Amino acid sequence: MIDDVATIRAEAHARIAQASSLDELRTLDVDILGKKGSLSILKSGLARLESIDKKKAAGRVLNEAIAALQAAIESRQRELSLGELDDRIEREAMDLTEYLHAPVRGRAHIVTQAWQRLEDVFIGMGFQIAEGPEVETDWHNFEALNMPPSHPARSMHDTFYVDHGSPGSTVLRTHTSPVQIRVMHSTKPPIYQVMPGRVFRNETTDSTHLAVFHQIEGLVIDKGITLADLAGTIDAFTKAFFGSDFGSRLRPSYFPFTEPSAEFDIRTPDGSWLELGGCGMVHPNVLRAGGIDPEEWSGFAFGFGIDRMAKERHGVGDVREMYTNDIRFIEQF
Ligand code: DAH
Repeated sequence: MIDDVATIRAEAHARIAQASSLDELRTLDVDILGKKGSLSILKSGLARLESIDKKKAAGRVLNEAIAALQAAIESRQRELSLGELDDRIEREAMDLTEYLHAPVRGRAHIVTQAWQRLEDVFIGMGFQIAEGPEVETDWHNFEALNMPPSHPARSMHDTFYVDHGSPGSTVLRTHTSPVQIRVMHSTKPPIYQVMPGRVFRNETTDSTHLAVFHQIEGLVIDKGITLADLAGTIDAFTKAFFGSDFGSRLRPSYFPFTEPSAEFDIRTPDGSWLELGGCGMVHPNVLRAGGIDPEEWSGFAFGFGIDRMAKERHGVGDVREMYTNDIRFIEQF
């Protein structure tokens, strides 16, 4: 009996030491120490031993074996659970090395950059920003701007008509000037606002023309505003936007919504002139369409293309390049 205990104990120790998982160890625990385990079977055999002394001696050996094996199982259990934890940590660890490479940072398109700089400069000059709808009524886009249906200036605006309302009543705005009317309706003078936005003309695109492009409109309405204020504002803007070595001039021109009207050019440091946009004193009919009394208030307006400014600033040869979204072009700026 004592020999049997020793054999089972030795064997059990070896199996416990070799157990490679907690599951395996649990099975061993049942096999060795469980109710039907080998040691329990021996235990039930104790009763059959002849003498009390033999029973006592065998019982002691048996109990020692049970205690020793229990301790061995517990210590192996601790070892295995630490190992399994390490494995799990290893398995579940996330590989973050790819995040060490900073993602490539994007940037605003050159037209957006120009748009934002224009806003910054005008805000610096005390203007507020307003926007109007791209789908506009014929009334705002033409009539309120002193261009009745028969007006010859309408032919300068190759218009996209929108199939909405009565025929010809809805257009994709051909310029940002209709926002002047909306601003006059929503704001009591004095008004000092600029209105950037996208505009549309039904024309064939080429290296200097696009069917979809951007303009920024300016409107000032106050008491006693004169052409001198217009010229001074254009010049202050030119110097703030392009630099103090730039200049500006007004050339007489014609627009239905201003009287008198002018084109304005900027003088680059090398002395050459670049045509930028149109401007003038707001026509009394336009003030009236905007609900403003021309006897009490006067003002000036101007408008010019944003894409053109981005093109000039970055020396882009063909405006169409700016909209093909070729990453090799876009990434240059
Ligand atoms: N709306 C004109 C255009 O698209 C530009 C323009 C000219 C705007 C004179 C104005 C202005 O405000 O006074 O060609």
